[in-house]
Amino acid sequence: MLKLSSIFKKNKNKIGNGDVGELEKGEPGKGELLFKINFEAKKPELPEVKDETKLDLRYGLIMPYAYAHLYWDEVHGEVVYSIEEPNLDVKEKEVLNTLEQGVQELIDISFINVDDKEVLIEYLEKNIKVLLKELGIGISRSSYLKFMYYIYRDFIGLNKIEPVINDQLIEDIECNGVKTPVYIVHRKFGSIRTNIVYDNFDELVSFVEKLAQKCGKYISYANPIMDGRLPDSGARVNATYTEDISSKGPTFSIRLFTKEAWSPVRLMQVGSVSAEILAYLWILIEHGANILIVGGTGSGKTTLLNCIASFIKPEARVITIEDTREIRLVHENWLPSVARMGTGVGGENTGEITMFDLLKASFRQRPDYVIVGEIRGAEAFVLFQGMASGHSGISTMHADDVKTVIRRLETTPINLSPSLVETLDVICLASFAKVKGHDTRKVRAVQEIISIKENGDAEVNVPFQWDASRNVFMFKRESIVFKKIVAKKGISLEELKKEFELRRKLLNSLYKKNLFEFEEVQKVINEYYKNKEAVMKRFLL
Ligand SMILES: Nc1ncnc2c1ncn2[C@@H]1O[C@H](COP(=O)(O)OP(=O)(O)OP(=O)(O)O)[C@@H](O)[C@H]1O
Ligand SMILES: [Mg+2]
Repeated sequence: MLKLSSIFKKNKNKIGNGDVGELEKGEPGKGELLFKINFEAKKPELPEVKDETKLDLRYGLIMPYAYAHLYWDEVHGEVVYSIEEPNLDVKEKEVLNTLEQGVQELIDISFINVDDKEVLIEYLEKNIKVLLKELGIGISRSSYLKFMYYIYRDFIGLNKIEPVINDQLIEDIECNGVKTPVYIVHRKFGSIRTNIVYDNFDELVSFVEKLAQKCGKYISYANPIMDGRLPDSGARVNATYTEDISSKGPTFSIRLFTKEAWSPVRLMQVGSVSAEILAYLWILIEHGANILIVGGTGSGKTTLLNCIASFIKPEARVITIEDTREIRLVHENWLPSVARMGTGVGGENTGEITMFDLLKASFRQRPDYVIVGEIRGAEAFVLFQGMASGHSGISTMHADDVKTVIRRLETTPINLSPSLVETLDVICLASFAKVKGHDTRKVRAVQEIISIKENGDAEVNVPFQWDASRNVFMFKRESIVFKKIVAKKGISLEELKKEFELRRKLLNSLYKKNLFEFEEVQKVINEYYKNKEAVMKRFLL
């Protein structure tokens, strides 16, 4: 790389567009900060789109510099997502290059140990002004602001995808290698192509390294797969490093989260569950039932898990165990723990703490509920053992149907005996579903495990099932788990059914009153536990 000193010599008094702007008159260094970003941008309200071929929608992402532009691409016959950023002419590109090299050589942002973007911007801006002065570059105010945007984007942010990360209407960002467009999953328009492309192999390699570093992880030829989480947004990151793993070079995918967790009522609002299903799960959770949520990738398992965890009694001791932190609870007695990768230094995986280790430790900490983000291997065995010895557990598992789940639980590497599988009370099946041509997510069925037969098959009772032809949730039969609760807790079935009815009405009432916000709904649930009469009065139950 060219050293800054040589650029300095070569370009002294030469770069810039000759435009004698305010900055050239000696403003750099004066102290006043010019570059500002509005971080309080609200989630855009999308208009109802009847005809996608007429789509032409623009909303701000990093205001006032970067915008999302969604429009119908006539050539390909599809909706595309284009990021619009300040235009730079040839001369400006040259200056920006010089400045970015200068920043790279002289300022190490990663040394500054603050998360506050405004503080970082201030630091960057002060240094850029000095750099401009040192290099003798004269630029107009408008060029200066454009440069600051790109420098901010590339040094504080996540380079090309920084605007996209700020789009609250996006679920996923997916890059499958070099020279191929980055795709996003838009909450409204589904999977669409963007105008972002990594043309250069080295650029993508160093970007993936940067992603890993931001997540506090390490990626290399020896450790070419990384799972992590971005510190400020909590977004979940998966990345691969080398060409031998994925043919088009390094890849990454980023799962973005809404700023607020989804409340049960929000899930009702989007039509993913019914008030009956939620009331039923609420009763199960109050009485410590063991629940497994299964479904395909991105089917909404973690969202449902997080949402029903809000039904856990407010004073309960909850331990959560995850690979990457996704679960968000408001319980005061919540002990979150996250597995840690080993360093690979000084022998095999030094310092590694697996979900298996965490789970084993958790059962000694007298939890009321143990929540495991996702079970895949040996940790599943520990969870089921814990459940068999009287602890309550909720988890998710990747599988498309109940039969597959049972088979996976019974075979290597999990190898549960039928009697251990039977400790599971209920399986909720999350899935994608098309409703009137639109992609939605549904809790397709709730299945109770009655017993596991000798051949390993499960005998199930299905209290709830989503009927695709009518888009309704059918409430099919009596609940076996209710009967188990009756036997164990000495509560009458009538009492449980009355509770079910009350909670169903309460959830419907919250829905009708437009009470969707996570914290608001959580408050009502907590109050219901503490002072049921008051809640019944308030909601006229
Ligand atoms: N019921 C829903 N309706 C609409 N969007 C949803 C719903 N549930 C989840 N989402 C969104 O879908 C995305 C994936 O959700 P989530 O992480 O819960 O899925 P998952 O099944 O746990 O995925 P993975 O298999 O990757 O762990 C998120 O952006 C989330 O906000
Ligand atoms: Mg998940």
